Amino acid sequence: MHVSVLYKEVIEGLQPKSGGRYIDGTTGAGGHAFGILESSSPKGELLGLDRDPSALKVARERLKEFGDRLHLRQASYVEMENVAREIGWGAVNGIILDLGLSSLQLEDAARGFAFKHEGPLDMRFDSATPITAADLVNGGSPDELADILFKFGEEHNARRIVKAILKARPINTTQQLAAVVAATVGGKRGDVHPATRTFQALRIAVNGELDAVEKVLPLAVGLLAVGGRLAVISFHSLEDRLVKNFFRREARDCLCPPEQVVCVCRHKASVKEITRKPMTPSEGELRSNPRSRSAKLRIVEKILLA
Ligand SMILES: C[S@@+](CC[C@H](N)C(=O)[O-])C[C@H]1O[C@@H](n2cnc3c(N)ncnc32)[C@H](O)[C@@H]1O
Repeated sequence: MHVSVLYKEVIEGLQPKSGGRYIDGTTGAGGHAFGILESSSPKGELLGLDRDPSALKVARERLKEFGDRLHLRQASYVEMENVAREIGWGAVNGIILDLGLSSLQLEDAARGFAFKHEGPLDMRFDSATPITAADLVNGGSPDELADILFKFGEEHNARRIVKAILKARPINTTQQLAAVVAATVGGKRGDVHPATRTFQALRIAVNGELDAVEKVLPLAVGLLAVGGRLAVISFHSLEDRLVKNFFRREARDCLCPPEQVVCVCRHKASVKEITRKPMTPSEGELRSNPRSRSAKLRIVEKILLA
């Protein structure tokens, strides 16, 4: 069974209420969506989005008891404003983004997300995405590949790994790629497989994940009603940095450099930070779901513009 990360913290943080409207931008197997619908009974509504049609199939089954309080659409969360408008919604009372991939996707060998399972090097969240991980690995130039591994995987051995990839091409499966990386940079680092960063980097590049996070944050704040909350769970430092910096900036009234005595930027805070420091999984959650270990939850609340 798929377990939602920081479930209790997300539901307590969003404070769903009957009659409220909520968006789950990353519905996945529908765990957080279930909690939001349950605690906004009897009249709260939820719009659930996911790029992955197979995730929505699972969510539809899990959430069927909520009937017409649930609206599910296959779409990227960057489309949330349009989709909300399509179903007749204006401002909403809460939005959750649980970034990255689900354990359902990770465990499905045919999706090619995991080096643990032999499968094609695919890694797309939806089949409409024009490139696969195999396209990048086998068609990317050395500079392109090194850039991807360094920027999206923070992999310091990027150049060495790329050299090995070029020598081994074509590489068509997850375990072929994992073996090439492991042979280049050695065995496990602690309990982290040496190919972890390479796989993360390729997945982010294939799905344009960081661009999507950068785009969705201002859109989501724009869609919130005053008092509405945005909760974001990130799983690696690249994502968390984007979320943290955006929240800090939007919670400040003036962004002028300190030497500027009089404000010229006229920036006004649009949110207040509910979590000054990110929430992380409890000991109990870490024990029962070790995959939650890198999760960080940040929450902001929309305020009235001064
Ligand atoms: C960590 S899972 C969400 C799990 C969910 N919160 C739950 O409790 O079951 C992340 C989901 O986000 C989806 N996803 C990733 N990028 C997306 C995007 N740009 N737009 C919509 N969904 C996206 C993935 O397909 C995946 O199903």
